Amino acid sequence: MKKATILLTISAVAVVTAAAFVQADGHGDINRASFNDDGSVNIPEGYRQWVFVGAPLTPNALNGGAAPFPEYHNVYVEPSAFAYWEANGTFPEGTQIVKELTLVYENDNDPETGASFEVSGVGYQQGEFAGLELTVKDNERFGDMPGGWAYFSFGHQPEPYAETAVAFPQESCNACHEANAQDDFVFTQFYPILRAAQGSQ
Ligand code: HEC
Repeated sequence: MKKATILLTISAVAVVTAAAFVQADGHGDINRASFNDDGSVNIPEGYRQWVFVGAPLTPNALNGGAAPFPEYHNVYVEPSAFAYWEANGTFPEGTQIVKELTLVYENDNDPETGASFEVSGVGYQQGEFAGLELTVKDNERFGDMPGGWAYFSFGHQPEPYAETAVAFPQESCNACHEANAQDDFVFTQFYPILRAAQGSQ
């Protein structure tokens, strides 16, 4: 009796897992970005609860006073796309990735390097929010963009950010990603969390 119950449980789990896999393979269970009738995209809700994959840093002081993307870049992947990446090792149609900018923490910063002294040592800490970017992979909607990746900005300023954004022309964003990013337009070379998770489940 006990054995039968265990067997039944195991086969039930197998069926559920197989169903989830088929669904994921069809890209059917990926949470999609919300678009408006005019083609603009809305700020994704709850993106700070997405999967955090890295925080590249380009301090203004080391970039002639004005880095193109100042200064920390906190990168988050939408969780259903992250789960697909773990299962299949690729980014599914519908993938959303945000990069939120923060300025370095201000505390008598060295003018040449932008670094400050904190109890942990001399270096960089995160200060205030300063902007939000989004990329979406959607070959149906953005068939004219290589790889189907469209890029958006909700502004480089403190909150509140713009509520909607329109896709940049290909040469503004997509071209640099296509030429320099390691894996499908995404800079996985800077995200050890993504590299470790790729195809791991
Ligand atoms: C000159 C090259 C270049 C251009 C142009 C560029 N990016 Fe990026 N982008 C990067 C690099 C490098 C990273 C990864 C690390 C970082 O953020 O510094 C990145 C990362 C990102 C990410 C996080 C996901 C990923 O692909 O790694 C988003 C979102 C993003 N960029 C949006 C934009 C937007 C929006 C534009 C256009 C306004 C843009 N990028 C233009 C080089 C570029």
